[in-house]
Amino acid sequence: MTTHASAPRTIYNTATSLDGFIATTGHSLDWLLTREADEDGPMGMTEFMAGVGAIVMGANTYQWLLDNQSAEPWPYEVPTWVCTHREFAPRTDGDVRFTGEPVELVHKAMAEAAAGKNLWIVGGGELAGQFADHGLLDEVIVSTAPVTLGSGAPLLPRRLELRVAEMARNGEFTCARYTVVGPDA
Ligand SMILES: NC(=O)c1ccc[n+]([C@@H]2O[C@H](COP(=O)([O-])OP(=O)(O)OC[C@H]3O[C@@H](n4cnc5c(N)ncnc54)[C@H](OP(=O)(O)O)[C@@H]3O)[C@@H](O)[C@H]2O)c1
Repeated sequence: MTTHASAPRTIYNTATSLDGFIATTGHSLDWLLTREADEDGPMGMTEFMAGVGAIVMGANTYQWLLDNQSAEPWPYEVPTWVCTHREFAPRTDGDVRFTGEPVELVHKAMAEAAAGKNLWIVGGGELAGQFADHGLLDEVIVSTAPVTLGSGAPLLPRRLELRVAEMARNGEFTCARYTVVGPDA
């Protein structure tokens, strides 16, 4: 099932440990990047990215890309917003927009740029939570790795009611797509 078949959706799509962390306390993804996954497989990133028209991430996620993938070209073709209060160097190899605007305004700008396609919240969890606080989070997609970390950056530190919409296995991951009902059932 594609996630962009009808109205554009704002989707938090991430990988997580079984105990709900998206990175270690030291921002390591070693527990994730070594695992087998098929980008073209069930609920894989190829189909997901085909429906995405704009991206948003927090400053630590962007810093992780700078620290770990600076030798690679910027990975995304669609406009990307980085929510931050820091001064990052401007990029010349991709459309990356640093912003300290409230997430409602970021969402509006993203929706305009995406022109009917979905909006992807890469992370972290608190940023996804800020979108949820404003009723601006439609779906959560999690690919769960078979590992527990004990501590780290939380998946989504909010009370949110969700409904299961889709499930699959992809390589070592169990994948699930949830629709957001709201803060209450
Ligand atoms: N497992 C996965 O698939 C996955 C996916 C995404 C990320 N990650 C990893 O998970 C970790 C996420 O880190 P994190 O939980 O700290 O989250 P994050 O969202 O990447 O970074 C949080 C920081 O972003 C800035 N920020 C957040 N909301 C903002 C807003 N509304 N306005 C302005 N600035 C805002 C703040 O930094 P400043 O005020 O200092 O700018 C805040 O401290 C990273 O290590 C990342 O690499 C993993």
